[in-house]
Amino acid sequence: MLPADADDELRECRIRVHRAGPLSGEVVVPGAKNSVLKLMAATVLADGVYELTNVPNIADVGIMADLLRAIGLEVTLHPQNLVTIVNRGDLTPVAPYELVAQMRASINLLGPLLTRCGEVRISMPGGDDFGSRPIDMHVAGLEAMGAEFELTADYVAARVAGGGRLHGAEIMFDFPSVGATENVLTAAVLADGVTTIDNAAREPELIDLCELMVSMGATIDGIGTSRLQITGVDRGALHATNHETVPDRIQAATYIAACAVSGGEIDLLNAKVDHMQMVLSRFRDMGLGLGQLPNGIRVTSEGRLRATDIATLPYPGIATDYKPLIITMLSVADGVAIVTENIYPGRFKYVEELQRLGADIRTNGHHAVIRGVERLTGAHVVSHDIRAGAAMVVAGLAAEGETTITGVHHIDRGYDDLVGRLQSVGAGISRAGAG
Ligand code: UD1
Repeated sequence: MLPADADDELRECRIRVHRAGPLSGEVVVPGAKNSVLKLMAATVLADGVYELTNVPNIADVGIMADLLRAIGLEVTLHPQNLVTIVNRGDLTPVAPYELVAQMRASINLLGPLLTRCGEVRISMPGGDDFGSRPIDMHVAGLEAMGAEFELTADYVAARVAGGGRLHGAEIMFDFPSVGATENVLTAAVLADGVTTIDNAAREPELIDLCELMVSMGATIDGIGTSRLQITGVDRGALHATNHETVPDRIQAATYIAACAVSGGEIDLLNAKVDHMQMVLSRFRDMGLGLGQLPNGIRVTSEGRLRATDIATLPYPGIATDYKPLIITMLSVADGVAIVTENIYPGRFKYVEELQRLGADIRTNGHHAVIRGVERLTGAHVVSHDIRAGAAMVVAGLAAEGETTITGVHHIDRGYDDLVGRLQSVGAGISRAGAG
């Protein structure tokens, strides 16, 4: 009989990938993880019944649903990518450790719960392991609005000093942090007076959150710019609403990368060119054909990719979340490229896995130098985080022989049926084992 851990190992879910011929067909791009989790958190702000559509079928949505239930909301995940949330106003502003530990975006409950309930306690967030992820900017922004914090190694607790409401403030971020902008923004919607956020993040998912809150009755000026001005309203002025989640630009880029290394032509329905201008421009430099469809993007890949230098930057720059995909594409491109990480310096963990497949990559600080090889070779690799896992799948498509990927639960956190969608366009991919 096998020892218990070997048995677990055999049962562990794995994805198997083979190099296949050119891809062809259509992929519908699901809603964005990095939007829907924030939309769900914002339903704490006002009572009523919400309907969120185009919600991706991913594990993190289930975790956020459980978090909202623990706080006192009723959440139902329906088929057809619909989620309904009922907020009856009876809220317990505590986010429990077992859930928060699984997902970084739990921190997005900080602003909505503090401004709605006057106090909040959230365990220190977990989620992807790509280095230190402090929340000092979230804290400084909310303190400027009248919050008092208690920070321990285990949790972050905050209350409105003196009771009552947070107040408006002028906030300037050193860096356009997505999460800090979201927490200050959501808190400011119910604060007393006007809040300005300078050097605000302006990712499409953040615009989606602003649009949800405007449809709830919030007053936000400068949406999509780096200066947001929020005029707080009374709680009674906000109401529940219906909202369609913005399509996921990172999932869209994953299918572009898959087509890039496999060859062929696929149509990405719902993908938004406007949200991906910079990365699409680099993909064109690498030799991909990218045409705009009435409702999506047509990707054409012929011949070998060309090496192109790339640096990650806050939006509208190239998102750090694209980087594992880009490095994988460059691993089989013609020539040498330098990729520079400006958002999360430690985010190169997956490089070791790519090296196991024969990629020629050297990292130094926040740079990676990639010398493209003709072909990768299949091996067993591990997915360490969501985007790295997707990159392993793409690498498997570029490799001779079989690539086996474990750590699949990371991929499931952010990808809605990656395997099924790739199978539907002809990729040699399957899933086996529990999970
Ligand atoms: C979000 C995304 C993540 C993406 C990242 C950058 C979600 C759930 N996650 O993460 O997928 O990779 O944006 O596009 O939407 N920082 C501080 N202090 C703070 C806050 C941030 O130093 O208080 C630093 C971080 O350590 C990091 C950089 O700022 O180096 C960017 O972080 P931020 O934009 O806040 O990313 P997240 O919102 O955590």
